[in-house]
Amino acid sequence: MSKSISDKVVRNTDGNTPFSTILEANMSRRLVMRGSLGSALALFAGASISACGGGSDGDDDKAVKLGFASLPNSMTDACVVPAGYVASVIGAWGTPLNDQAAPWSNEGRNTSQDLLHSTGMHHDGMHYFPLAGSSSEGLLVVNHEYIDEKALHPNGPTSVDGKRPAEEVRKEVNAHGVAVMHVRKEGSKWEIIQNSRYNRRFTSATPMNLSGPVAGTDWVKTPFSTTGSQVRGTNNNCGNGTTPWGTYITAEENWAACFVNTGEQTAAQKRVGVQAKLGRYQWETAAGDASEQQGEFARFNITATGADGLQDWRNEVNGFGYLVEIDPYDPSSTATKRTAMGRFAHEGAAYGIPVAGKPLAFYSGDDSRFEYIYRFVSEALWDPKDAARSDRIAVGNKYLDKGTLYVARFDAEGKGEWLALTPATKGKDGRSLGEAFGNIDAILINTRGAADFVGATPMDRPEWTAVHPSNGDVYLTLTNNTSRNAERGTNAANPRLNNVNGHIVRWHDDAGANTFRWDIFVFGSDAASNADTNRSGLTELNQLASPDGIAFDDRGILWIQTDNGIDGGRNNAVAKATNDQMLAVVPGALKDAKGTGPVINAGNQAELRRFFVGPNEAEITGFAYTPDHTSIFLNIQHPVNWPAYGTADATRTPDSKVRPRSSTVVIQKADGGPIGV
Ligand code: FEO
Ligand code: CA
Ligand code: CA
Repeated sequence: MSKSISDKVVRNTDGNTPFSTILEANMSRRLVMRGSLGSALALFAGASISACGGGSDGDDDKAVKLGFASLPNSMTDACVVPAGYVASVIGAWGTPLNDQAAPWSNEGRNTSQDLLHSTGMHHDGMHYFPLAGSSSEGLLVVNHEYIDEKALHPNGPTSVDGKRPAEEVRKEVNAHGVAVMHVRKEGSKWEIIQNSRYNRRFTSATPMNLSGPVAGTDWVKTPFSTTGSQVRGTNNNCGNGTTPWGTYITAEENWAACFVNTGEQTAAQKRVGVQAKLGRYQWETAAGDASEQQGEFARFNITATGADGLQDWRNEVNGFGYLVEIDPYDPSSTATKRTAMGRFAHEGAAYGIPVAGKPLAFYSGDDSRFEYIYRFVSEALWDPKDAARSDRIAVGNKYLDKGTLYVARFDAEGKGEWLALTPATKGKDGRSLGEAFGNIDAILINTRGAADFVGATPMDRPEWTAVHPSNGDVYLTLTNNTSRNAERGTNAANPRLNNVNGHIVRWHDDAGANTFRWDIFVFGSDAASNADTNRSGLTELNQLASPDGIAFDDRGILWIQTDNGIDGGRNNAVAKATNDQMLAVVPGALKDAKGTGPVINAGNQAELRRFFVGPNEAEITGFAYTPDHTSIFLNIQHPVNWPAYGTADATRTPDSKVRPRSSTVVIQKADGGPIGV
C-alpha cells in the first residue's frame, strides 16, 4: 500500500518501553541470532557473537548462489530486469475472468458487474497454487488492496448533494478484494483461462463466514447476520499468507477508515481509526438509494442509532480486521475470517516450519506507526496428514480457530518475549487482561488495546513476514516511521529516530518457549548517508528504503520489495535515486568480513542484489513462483503511466500517456531456466 491510504495518524499513544539507553549496546552487539540450516526450530545455542567462523549460519557450500548482476538505479515508466530475463504482464486491472464481464474500457466505462467478473484494482499479496504440482498450470490468487478512484471512473468519483451514486459505490466495492485466476503457460506465455470453474472474485461485498472466538457473539450480530456468523466482504487486502494445507490467507489492513461513526466512538474504534465524519470512499452516503439491498451502503455508517446492534449497523465494523482463509481449489467454499488470530491492520501472515506433534505458529505485523508484531499459536498439534486433506476449510477450523494470540516485546541484548493476549495475563498496572477487557472475544476485538496493556514494543510499521524454509528464522519488514521523534524515543528493535528508510528485523523462537532471539538484518538507507543512517553499508547497487513485501522461496532466496511512497513525491534520498524495486539475498550464503555474523554489512554488499525495478510511482509487492522456479510473479501497484497495454511488450514505457493499470508481472529467463541463480 502506498502513502495514499496508509494510516499516518499515531493511534498508539501508550508509549511502551523506550529503550534509547541501550541503543549503543545493541548496535555494538550487532548479532546474537544465528540460525542453523537443517536444525529447524532447534533451540538456539545462545548469543555467540564472536565464534562465527564456522558455517552454522549458512552452510555455505550448500547455499544457493545468486547468478545475476545487481541492477543500477532506474526512474522510468518501464519494468527493468537483469540481462537474460524477460518480463510480461498478466491480469491487469479489469481483465475479464469470464464472459459475464465486458473487456476493460480505456475510458473507465466498465460497470460494477464487469468488475465482479474481472481482476480488481491495486494488486498486492499473491500466491501460485499449482494444479497437480504443475509449473505451467495453476491458480494465481491476488489481493486487490485499494482503488484509484480517478482511474476507475471515466472522470473520477462523483457525488450529488453529498451522496455517492450507488453504481459507482458498487463498482468501487467490487474493485476491492481477491481474485482467483486459473492460469496456464503455453510455450513461454502465461494466460488466464477465461470461464474456468476456478476463476473467482471475492469483493468487499461477498458473504464470508466468521469463525473463532468472536463469531456468534454480540460483537458481530447485525441486521444482515442476526446470529453473528457472517459478514459481507473483505477489505483493503494487503499482504497474504498460505497454510500448510494449501489454502490462501488474505490480510485485511486499512479497513477501519471505510467506516464512520459520527457519535461516541468506543476505545477499540478510536484505536483502529474509524472515521468521525466521512468514510474514506464515502460509501455510506449512498444509503437510502432505491436500489439498496440489505443496507449494503448503510452498513458503512456504524453510528449507533437504534436500540441495539440488530437495529443499526454499529457491529458491522467488528466483522473486519482479520486474516481471511480462502480455499482456491474449491470454488464452492466460503471464505472464512479467523478471529482467533487477532483484529488489527494485518499485513500478511507467515507460518513457522510445521513440526509433527507440535503446535503451528503464524506471524503477522500490524502496519501502522508504533504498532506491534503478533504470533498465533494453534491449540491443535500438527498432523502432517492434514496437509493432504481436501476439506481444507475444515482443517483451518482445526488449527486457526483455537489457540493463543501473542504480541512481541523486544528487549535488550537481542532477547524478546511473546506476551499472551489471554484473560489471565497481567498488564502493566497489575490487573489482568480479563479484569480490564473481559473475555477473550473482547480482548480480540480490541487487540491493539490489549497489546498496549501488556507492554508490547511499538515498532516502525510492521509489514510482511517471511520464514526461512530451513532454519525457521522469521524476517519482518519495518517499512519506516517518520513519527519516531525524540519525545517518543527509540527502542532496541527500532533504533533510528525519524526512520525514513525502514529496516528488517529477524528473530528465532526458542523451541517450546515464549521467548525469542532477534537482530536487525538490514537497515534501509541511501548509499551516500553517513554511517549512523547507512548502518548496513548499502551501495548504489542495493540502496533501498521502505521495505514492505518479503518472501522466501523454498531454495532459501529472500526477496525484498519496497514501497517507498514515491506516488506521494520523492521524499527521501533513495526515492530521489530510484523507483521501487525487488532485491534478492541468500541469508544462508552470507559471509561476514568482520566476523560479527551474517547480517548485511560493508563486507558482504555483493550478496544483496537488485533484481527488478518498477515503473514510476508504483510500489512492488506480492511474490509468487512456480515449483520449478522458472516463473516468478510480482505485482506493480499504482503506477502513474504504465503498462504499455496493447503492445508486444506491455512492461515497457508506453508510447503516450495511458490510464494506469496495476498488474501482475511474470518474469522468466529467456532460456527458460530457474530464476535468480
Ligand atoms: Fe498495504 Fe502495509 O501496506
Ligand atoms: Ca507499504
Ligand atoms: Ca504492504
